[in-house]
Amino acid sequence: MNGVLESSRLIVTVGTGGVGKTTIAAALGIAAARRGRRALVLTIDPARALAGALGLTGLAAEGEPVPAAALAAAGLRLPTTLDAAMLDQRAAWDAFVRRHAPTPAHAAALLGNRIYQALSTSFAGATEYMALEEMSRHVDSGRYDLVIVDTPPAAHALDFISAPDRIAPLVERGVVAALARPAGAAGALARFVARRIEGATGGRTLGELATFFAALEALVDAAAARARHARAMLRAPGTAFVLVAAPRASLLAETGALAAQLAAAAAPLAAVIVNRAQPPVDGALAVAPTLDAIADPGARAWLTAAWDDAVAATAAERAALARLAEVVPAALPVVAVTELPRDLLPLRAVGAISDQLVATPSVMAIRP
Ligand SMILES: Nc1ncnc2c1ncn2[C@@H]1O[C@H](COP(=O)(O)OP(=O)(O)OP(=O)(O)O)[C@@H](O)[C@H]1O
Ligand SMILES: [Mg+2]
Repeated sequence: MNGVLESSRLIVTVGTGGVGKTTIAAALGIAAARRGRRALVLTIDPARALAGALGLTGLAAEGEPVPAAALAAAGLRLPTTLDAAMLDQRAAWDAFVRRHAPTPAHAAALLGNRIYQALSTSFAGATEYMALEEMSRHVDSGRYDLVIVDTPPAAHALDFISAPDRIAPLVERGVVAALARPAGAAGALARFVARRIEGATGGRTLGELATFFAALEALVDAAAARARHARAMLRAPGTAFVLVAAPRASLLAETGALAAQLAAAAAPLAAVIVNRAQPPVDGALAVAPTLDAIADPGARAWLTAAWDDAVAATAAERAALARLAEVVPAALPVVAVTELPRDLLPLRAVGAISDQLVATPSVMAIRP
């Protein structure tokens, strides 16, 4: 992970639900800040997981530093600030309109339009589009050496990668421009489209609809250009996707499929992180004499069974890890992070994970 942390300016964590994408994103942020890189961890997930992982109560849309007191309480001392941000869809769309509308009057017309208000947070792809916009805006801001994007569970992560591909053609092929004409067939089409967009148009007048499409038309070129820009950024040198996986046989197929989909989308996958690996238990260890020496039969039986379970779990996990290394591309580094005790302060646990991510040799050898 060291090379990725040093040379990337954008890292995107992806993976199946609940495997630890948010935790790993936060840990990568700490690891980057430890190296003196100004980093931002940006979460798209409206759940408060990132705030929790960083020991915060909330997150702002613009990056804000993780407070020194929170870091100090977790025993972390960083040579530079680490920022965290969360996508606020509504606010991001409004800001986007203000940034890209040709005149303040255009912006005001769109912002005040009820159809815009309903659609901007609900149309299919709205979240992904805005996540990409915020991602590229933060990368381009010059405020950060590295932006780490924490994506929602797998299906959405792929939507995220393909969003610019889906949006740009729609815009470029003039669909919105055609709908901006309120008269005749285009007007009928606009009403049809609006009816199709769930819940957005009940009782709306045609006038409002026309205003909406006309105001939108003024923005589509900017929107298409931004989508192309984000698309290029996702595939640019300096961008690294990190696939977070679990050492469980039941999730192998999903992880393999995700790796294949990333490859098909030309996403530059840089590493696989296997999160929550169990510290291995050595089944070859001669524990029988020690167990036999336990006088209490109940305690002896319990400990023997627990030991046997742990040996079996280690074997199962090793088998899953070996197969995982087979389902992801051969040259890819696979790095393990162990399961940490539940009672650890969240930010302290994330700090420990960041240590494991950069440890050489790695904590558990899987594939360098
Ligand atoms: N190495 C670890 N040791 C112990 N607990 C962990 C570890 N990694 C993650 N967790 C815990 O697992 C839970 C899920 O982690 P996290 O929220 O990072 O997953 P996610 O992939 O982002 O989930 P989602 O798909 O819902 O966004 C959290 O409670 C987190 O604290
Ligand atoms: Mg998450």
